[in-house]
Parts: sequence; structure tokens; C-alpha cells
Amino acid sequence: MNHFEYQGNDLYCEDVAVKDIAAQVGTPFYLYSHATLSRHMQAFTSAFASVPHIVCYSIKANSNLAVLKTFVTLGSGFDMVSGGELFRAQQVGCDPQKIVYSGVGKTEPEIEAALNANILMFNVESPQELETIDRVAGRLGKKAGIAIRVNPDVDPQTHPYISTGMKQAKFGINISQALEDYRRAAAMPNLEVIGVDCHIGSQLTKLSPFVDAIKKIRELVETLKQEGFAIKYLDLGGGLGITYEDEEPPTPTDYAEAIIEATKGLDVTLIFEPGRMMVGNAGILAAKVLYVKEGEAKNFVIVDAAMNDLARPALYGSYQGIEPVDRSTKERMVADVVGPICESGDFLAQDREIPAFKQGDLIAVSSAGAYGFTMASNYNSRPRTPEVMVKGDQVLVIRQRETYDDLIKGESIPEGI
Ligand code: LLP
Repeated sequence: MNHFEYQGNDLYCEDVAVKDIAAQVGTPFYLYSHATLSRHMQAFTSAFASVPHIVCYSIKANSNLAVLKTFVTLGSGFDMVSGGELFRAQQVGCDPQKIVYSGVGKTEPEIEAALNANILMFNVESPQELETIDRVAGRLGKKAGIAIRVNPDVDPQTHPYISTGMKQAKFGINISQALEDYRRAAAMPNLEVIGVDCHIGSQLTKLSPFVDAIKKIRELVETLKQEGFAIKYLDLGGGLGITYEDEEPPTPTDYAEAIIEATKGLDVTLIFEPGRMMVGNAGILAAKVLYVKEGEAKNFVIVDAAMNDLARPALYGSYQGIEPVDRSTKERMVADVVGPICESGDFLAQDREIPAFKQGDLIAVSSAGAYGFTMASNYNSRPRTPEVMVKGDQVLVIRQRETYDDLIKGESIPEGI
């Protein structure tokens, strides 16, 4: 459920007509619904209310400070993957004891910043990283809480670029090798082994890969406990999918039931790192039709948003819904919805049946709240879009549109060039 609905022919976000926001901020822009963000967080936490757990929202999905603050206010922690994400977490006052740090390439300065911030746990992805964290912690006179990110070799049945839990992936340590690395970690003076972590992929629409992964990891947790490791946390990552087109992902309740059953008796606090399911359907990308071009082979609806604003269709061939902001036109057409960028890969939709859009119409690209703005770039020297949040009848600009001056910030022309 989300709060983007039609009132008459006009698309609304909560109590505000999308066309009125376009008139105020111009196009294109990202638009998020505060009520939808809150609803998703609450649905997730209440599904796990019966077991000890921490929700660590995955910052990479949508890292706008107002979005992060919305989640912190509801008790969320964060899954972070870089020093920049730690900086964002600190800006919104996140409890550091609810922050976990994942990623295969943590640098020493990043590790140092995370230790100084007193985060809960590093999800360690290689034997060399164990050594580096131990060394940095020793230098700072601190103990680092760690989990090993275990790669359970399970096929998440999703897009290969976002599958992370198979043997071929760069992520984690293979489950067959994990026990040995846990023993090595135990011998390192500045590490405190407190957890086991796994994240198998993103946009999962079935429960079975999650359950299969837990089956494998359960054994490891039990063995570690028998060996005297004080495993307090089991981090199950993120990955729960959303509906972009006609997918039917498990609801948070279905997901929680399966996970609670699969982890029964382990006596650990569960950690989750949901990203997409929290923000994906809480956001749209609104754009304006610049031109409609009827070609010999294809029709093109050329809009003012492009692959630099929303990379997912170009990068993964993924489906994003295209909806009219005013649905009064009943005629339909089949077209590619494309942006102004000079590449044929610059499309938001291909061969799509859509309303017969006219020049000047507004469109809404749906399910754009996750991995939308966070993956935006300035390609073709396009200033990045503003981000707007609606809360009830309030329109809150939570990121200004970039200016041409922003585009060249930090650049210089050395003398003699
Ligand atoms: N935890 C870790 C360690 C992750 O790598 C990810 C996502 C998450 C949690 C959050 O997963 P989620 O709940 O959002 O599925 N750009 C791609 C998605 C990349 C996902 C990367 N890792 C896309 O647009 O589909």
C-alpha cells in the first residue's frame, strides 16, 4: 500500500496534487510520501514484534537526510557501507549501537571513523579485513564488534547484478571457510566476535532462498556457540522485493513468520537491513513530456528525466511503471519513454502501452523511491533533480535542484592549460 492515489483524474501524494508540486518546483523531481515511509517501517517492525530484533535500514536505497530522520524517529538503526553513509547517519542522530557496517572494501580511515563513532558491528567480508580492523582498533585502544558475512551459496533467483550470496560473488566468506576464520578472529586481541551475518541478494520475491540460507547458517551459529563463541546477533541482511509490475513478493508478515520459524531456538537478536521495501513504493519520479515523436519503427515519448536521474531501466533492464499525472486521456499508445541523454540506452520504458501522452503532460515513474536518486549522476552535465517529501498537506523540499555552479564545484583550470 502506498499513498499515491488518484482523486478524480489527478494523481495525489497524500493530500497534495502532484501537478501542484510540479508547478512549484519544476520538473523533473523525486517525490516521497512520509506516510508511506512510516507505514512500511511500522509494518516491518510490528511483524517482528514477538522476537528480539533491530531494524537497520539500508542507507544506500535512499539516503536523503529527511528520509533517514523519518526512520530514526521510528526507532530504526542503519546498515551503512561507506564513510559517507556514516556521516549521514551521524547527521540524523542515529544511535550508533544500531549501526552495522557492510561492504567488501572498507578503508582504514573509514574503519577508524566507524570505531570512533562506536558502531555496533562490522560485517567482515574477508580474512584480510579481519586483520585490518584488529590493527586499527588496537591503535585506537578499542574493541571492534564483528560478525563475519557468510556466503551461504544460495541462489536468490533475482537479477545477476543484485545476487550476492552465491559462490561466484565477491561478497562474504564462503560458509565452508567461515568457521576457520571465526577461530582466527577469536585469537585477535582487538576484536569481539558478536554475530553472524548474511545478505544473499536484492528484490527477492520468494521466501525459499531466505529459508535455505538460514538453514545453512543455523548450523554455523550452533557450532560457534558450542565452541564457546558468544554469538548475540544474527544479521539476515535485506533483500525483500517489491511490486514493480506484477511481482507478488511476500508481505512483511509472511517474511517474518518464515524467518521466526527458521531461527527458532537460536537465542539471538535478529538484525535486518531492509532497503528497497521501505522506500521503493514510497517514491515516484515526476517528469514532463518534452516531445512526442512518431517514428517508422517506434514511437518515442521524450521526457525531461533521463538515465542519469533513474539508472535502473538502463542498467538492469528493469521495469518501472509509467503513470499519467492527469488520467483524463483515455486513448492509449505504444512507445518508448526516453530521456534527453545521448545514448540509446537512455530509456525509462520500452515498447510500453501507455496513455497517449501529449507535449507538456506530466508523467509519474512509479516505484522510484529506492535506488533512484542515490544512483543518479550528472552525466551530460545534467543537474540532479530536487527531492520533495509530502507529509499530509505539507510540501517539503528536502533537496534543492542542483545549479550549474554545483556542476563545476571543485573543478579548476590550471594555469597554462
Ligand atoms: N544489506 C546489504 C549488505 C546490501 O548489499 C543491500 C543491498 C541491502 C542490505 C539492502 O537490500 P534491499 O533490501 O534493498 O534489497 N541498485 C540495485 C540494488 C542493489 C542492492 C545492493 N545491496 C537496484 O536498483 O535494484
